[in-house]
Parts: sequence; structure tokens; C-alpha cells
Amino acid sequence: MKTSDNETLTRVGPGTPMGATMRRYWHPICTSEQLPHPDCDPLRTKLLGESFVVFRDSQGKVGVLDEYCMHRRVSLALGRVEGGGIRCLYHGWKFSIDGTILETPNHPDERFRKNLRAPSYPVHEAGGLIWTYIGPRDKEPVFQKFPFFDGPDQNRVVLRINTHANYLQLFEGGVDSSHVGILHSNRANPTWMHNTFTSAVEEDYNPGALSVPDNCPSLEVEDTDYGYHYVAKRKAGTPDAVSIRVTPVILPTCRIIPAPAFQFFVFEVPQDDEWTSTYLLCHGPKAIARADVVRIMGLDDERFWNPKTCDFHADWANHLGQDRAAMKHNWTGLSGIEQEDAILAVSMGPIVDRSLEHLVAADVAIVRLRRRLLEAVRMVEAGQEPLGNQIADLGHVKALVDTVIDSADDWRDQVKSNRESVPA
Ligand code: FES
Ligand SMILES: [Fe+2]
Repeated sequence: MKTSDNETLTRVGPGTPMGATMRRYWHPICTSEQLPHPDCDPLRTKLLGESFVVFRDSQGKVGVLDEYCMHRRVSLALGRVEGGGIRCLYHGWKFSIDGTILETPNHPDERFRKNLRAPSYPVHEAGGLIWTYIGPRDKEPVFQKFPFFDGPDQNRVVLRINTHANYLQLFEGGVDSSHVGILHSNRANPTWMHNTFTSAVEEDYNPGALSVPDNCPSLEVEDTDYGYHYVAKRKAGTPDAVSIRVTPVILPTCRIIPAPAFQFFVFEVPQDDEWTSTYLLCHGPKAIARADVVRIMGLDDERFWNPKTCDFHADWANHLGQDRAAMKHNWTGLSGIEQEDAILAVSMGPIVDRSLEHLVAADVAIVRLRRRLLEAVRMVEAGQEPLGNQIADLGHVKALVDTVIDSADDWRDQVKSNRESVPA
């Protein structure tokens, strides 16, 4: 990969090509759970290199404002959330969720309040997430509906994990089927240490559950309106049988990973060039316990993940938390799927130099991700809408968990709805 393409793909701040492209989509900015009740503590967070304060007002409505007060730039994250707005601690200016200036105690001029507004951004709350749009006002796209918006809340678990790695490192890990049976051996094949294979399907929310022990899947990719989907084909015992696993990628940050009974919608949302908020949505046709998802992801270990701040900590000072003494019976010396994925992404350094890679055929879905993201950048540069941002409903997009089909059959027939063209 050319160094210039790596720069284009990884830099997301204001004024950068990818920053301009990402700003043409809605993004999650925090979870609903992070703002648990009206007038709760405000949240300070970043999105695409900019700083915001997110708060829930007395009516329960959520506002996203620039973090720094428009008066003299104190952080509003220190402010008081009360009486239908957020009040800056410094001189008491108070703002509603849409940026209306409600009070200016040190400047009692009503016209001044009416003529100005604090920078604010549109908000939707859906699927356990707070979504916002920070791009050009006149280019605001439709708010897209994802399948996990539907169904009762107990059928869904929402986790946020803030990791010190560029979003693309984490995203590429999510479209890399050939690592599942190796990195996640503890979950994909719990008897690996005996050189035998045991399928781990007893946990039907296990996204590492492979049905067969083939760690050299052949991959095929097909472009779609929203990005692409790809299949990993694994040998399934007889020459005329193949196990397929299909992963859709929805630009600019989402992929859907299948588990036996659930689907994991994973968003790799850039906070800035070096930090990523991973939003992990486990969604299915029945109730699921948050503690089970936290455990299978390896986020129950407090050394790594703080459920309150959502920050993921891994430090070379303790070898990124790896337990090398355990590696006789534990493949990674780590524990859990997200813990393993996040630590490997951190181990690459915040922004990896892709000009030094040696890619192979098993990396074809990663190459396509880069290509599709660069296409979206070119579309914005050409004055067009970027790939997929006009699709109002993504309900037809599905991952397919390991399924054995006749090797002469077309995998696309198993995921026909993924290929439906949606009129812009
Ligand atoms: S800095 Fe916020 S009110 Fe003065
Ligand atoms: Fe992984």
C-alpha cells in the first residue's frame, strides 16, 4: 500500500479527505446507558478529532454540543445539567440541547441571546446508542435504520470499548476471517492443546464458533450498495461440501459478525486518528445476558476494561497483560475475543505503516475494505454522496453463521437479501 493511501485512510480530523467523508454519515457518539437518566452527569467525548459534550436534559432528550463553552471556552463537561439545559460553571451561561442560549447571567441582553447559538448537532437515540451527525448542515443524510433497533431491549447487549489504535486496524481485524480459528483458538477450538478439534457451538452467542477446523479459508468478495459482503469457505469433510460464513461490511465503520443464534454489529468509530470507540451490539431473537457477552469478549477482567469509562487499558509495562505462563493451555495468554482483538490492534502501534505489509490471498476482504473506503473518499471529492449513506433501511443486511452447502452451489444464494439494490 502506498504511504499516501495509508494517510488518506487513517486521518479523520477536520479538513482531511477521510474526515470529510466520515462526516457525511451518522455515527454513534456514546451509548444510551452512558446517559442513564434525565439531568444525569454530562459526558465528554471525541468524534473524528473534535471534542463534544453529550447530555440528557430534564425531559430525557439528548443534546450534542461542542465541548468548549462559546463564551470563554471552559469545558461544558464540568457544567450543571438542570432545568432543561446544561449550564457552564464559569459564568452560568445555559444552553438547551439545540444550542439555544437560555440564560447569560453576566450579560442580561435578550437580543444577544437570540442572535447567537452554541454549536449543536442533530441527535437520534436508537438501538441503545446515541447517534449524531457532525457534517455539513445542508448535506445531512437520512438516519439509517439497523436491524438491532428492533425487538425488546433484553434481546440486545450494547458495549462500548475505547481503544488506543486507529479505527482501521480494528476494522480490518473484523473482516479477517482467517484469524478467527487461530487468534481466537480458545473460543474457536477449546481442545486445540490436544491437537483435536471441538466445535464451540454450545455458546450460541460465540462469534468465534467455527464449525470446521480449516484455518485456510478461501475468500470471495462481492460489492454491494452499502459496501460489500464476503464469504469465507472452509473444507467441510467431503469434497462436495463446504462450510460458508458470510460477513457484510456497511460503510463507513460497521461489519456484522455471525454467531450461532446472534449477530454482532460492530462499529469502529474514530474518536481521533489514534483512538477508536468500538460499539459492539449483540442482537438476536431471544434474551441475552450482558454478563455473558462481557465474559466471552474478555471484558470481565478489570485490568483491561472499565465499564464506567468504557476505556480499554493495555500497556507494554506489563506486556499488554499477557500471561505467558498460561500459554500451555491458553493459546494467547489472554482471555476473550474482544480482549484479544483489541490487544493485537494496540500492539501494532497507534497507526500501522501498511507499506511494510506482505498481504496474501486470505487478506482479500481487507484489501476490499481499503478500496471501498477510498472509493467513498473519491465520491465525496467528486461532489457526490458517499457510498451507501442514502440507504434508509439496512434491515435486509445479514451475516450468515457457518453453514454447510454443496460446493457446487453459489454462496450468494444463501444471502440473497444482502444483494438487494436499494434505490437512492
Ligand atoms: S466560559 Fe462559559 S459562561 Fe463563561
Ligand atoms: Fe478477532
